[in-house]
Amino acid sequence: MWTAPPLNDSTSKAELYSLIDAQLRALLEHESDAIANMANCAALLFHTLPDVNWVGFYLLKGTDLVVGPFQGQPACVRIPLGHGVCGTAAERRATVRVANVDEFQGHIACDSASRSEIVIPLINPSGTLVGVLDIDSPHLDRFETEDEVGLEKIATRLAAKL
Ligand code: SME
Repeated sequence: MWTAPPLNDSTSKAELYSLIDAQLRALLEHESDAIANMANCAALLFHTLPDVNWVGFYLLKGTDLVVGPFQGQPACVRIPLGHGVCGTAAERRATVRVANVDEFQGHIACDSASRSEIVIPLINPSGTLVGVLDIDSPHLDRFETEDEVGLEKIATRLAAKL
């Protein structure tokens, strides 16, 4: 049975991501199935990160990103490379942080509650782009540099299993 990490009001973001990373390492250790590992990673992040309303994966299939395991409201299924925040992060192979989704030209609104967003590319150890990790928040400017650093580490760990 999964037990949530022991968090309190004084838990720093660095500590939070370190606890999440330790839990992810344990979840991935004995499993090689990509869908199972993405599903557990999405659930772990969704139930551990404060103030998020959508956490999930889009996987590169041809020139489209296709929705994969996620937690949150039903989402747009297919996003062409270069479109939206997800397609932009995938095309650039770089994390994109959006403080206010209404100010990102081309943002694709899947959940009207989303106000800010971070998308991290998933690049496997051989350098292939596999997809992206997309996290939305109902709060403006939810994601800081510390989130980017913590989530990139998590994305790297997961991408090694995809
Ligand atoms: N907002 C994203 C689309 C995916 S949903 O947020 C789940 C984007 O513009 O890429």
